[in-house]
Amino acid sequence: MPPMKSALFATKPIAQLLADADGSHAMKRSLGMMDLVALGIGGIIGSGIFVITGEAAAAHAGPAIIVSFLVAGLVAALAALCYSEMAAMIPISGSAYTYTYATMGELIAWIIGWDLILEYLVGAATVSVGWSGYVTTFFGQITGLSLPHEWIGAPVAWDAGKGALVWSGNYPNLPAVAITLFVTGVLILGVRESARLNVGIVFVKIAVLLAFIAAAAPFIRPEHWQPFVPPNDGGFGHFGYSGIFQGATVVFFAYIGFDAVSTAAQECREPQRDLPLGILISLAVSTVFYIAVAAVLTGVVSYKTLGVPNPIDVGIAATGFHWLQVVVDIGAIAGLTSVMLVLLLGQPRIFLAMAKDGLLPPWAARVHPRLGTPYVTTLITGVACAVMGGVLPIGILSDLTSIGTLFAFFLVCLGVMVLRRRLPDAERPFRLPFGAYLIPLLGAGSAAALMSAANPASLVRLFVWMAIGMAIYGLYGRRHSKLRNRSD
Ligand code: ALA
Repeated sequence: MPPMKSALFATKPIAQLLADADGSHAMKRSLGMMDLVALGIGGIIGSGIFVITGEAAAAHAGPAIIVSFLVAGLVAALAALCYSEMAAMIPISGSAYTYTYATMGELIAWIIGWDLILEYLVGAATVSVGWSGYVTTFFGQITGLSLPHEWIGAPVAWDAGKGALVWSGNYPNLPAVAITLFVTGVLILGVRESARLNVGIVFVKIAVLLAFIAAAAPFIRPEHWQPFVPPNDGGFGHFGYSGIFQGATVVFFAYIGFDAVSTAAQECREPQRDLPLGILISLAVSTVFYIAVAAVLTGVVSYKTLGVPNPIDVGIAATGFHWLQVVVDIGAIAGLTSVMLVLLLGQPRIFLAMAKDGLLPPWAARVHPRLGTPYVTTLITGVACAVMGGVLPIGILSDLTSIGTLFAFFLVCLGVMVLRRRLPDAERPFRLPFGAYLIPLLGAGSAAALMSAANPASLVRLFVWMAIGMAIYGLYGRRHSKLRNRSD
């Protein structure tokens, strides 16, 4: 099919996308299916389960946080199925950006590419701040030493009264900056090396979660699950059924990351078979762990005690196995590190795809001749992430990540339907079950529903972010687009 002539909605034919990717291919195809599953689990299991679960149970859903995890997992699964169809059909590292270029045209592709920065780059910055908090507390407990608090807080804070960011007097968050730069360095050295490190970390965090479940399960007291859905206390989202829903929007953060698997498409040995498997298996494994951990945690202690940054430690304290606390803290730190590794691996590959299309400057598309990694975009991503994680408060970062990801999921679900209509007979190595429309419609609808529960300030920030993106597209991308210059 020739590209559509209408300038902004010109789509890039799939055959051309694949040919361009092959023609300029300089990345190494070194990843197998297990690497991809590990990448998925590496990107998914992190601060969501180790940090956010406690607050979601204590403030929103009570023991029914288990149901919140199921609901959020279902939304993620619908999007994951759509990602799988697209990833197998268009195995190119730009992920949702590339799929949209093939389906809804350049303008919407730019919008989603710009939006994905919120999921990957801002997501990694969010986790870096969580990492900083966990590591400094852990080392404080072990060694009795602590960093001055000015170096572990955010230099700016959100003043809800003024509706503006204000100076808090802190310096940049030093541990957050340090871990970001370390992970960036590993990623520049090689995708194979990064994937190996990730596999090691994934083993550690899975072993730690299994140890927690096995050690704590015998201490479950079923009365802690009564009432399973605590009565609503008057406000929307404060327990009751609305609390389960609000809890699902909060723990949705825990599922972010599975789609990073698709950004490694050009480094997989058999992308058409392995990408869908990598996405779906990693999501399924993580969901089982989330539900098991949530059930054990709320069964061992009252949900009311879980509103702390390290809720799993609260569960362990109730078992009396204090040694396990150190083990779980190590698992949490490992988990947070692997999430950063995977998100910071995904972002440069999306930038690379955008640069190859001319929407970002050509120097951003450079791949290191010896290391085979997109070192320019990896470095830019790392520095930008270090600045964000070093400066901004975690609440703003995590809200932006969640809303940006939901918006991306929404667009991918729409994209699957558009592509089914425009190219009904194209080869689809992985096809959605239940026909072309049921899963994408449910996926888009549920992502929109979770977005509607976001706080209004996040929606405003999403809008501002998108406006900045549109300005950059107007000033640069529109003029330098290779597709437009080819078809004009
Ligand atoms: N899902 C990732 C986490 O929970 C982003 O840290």
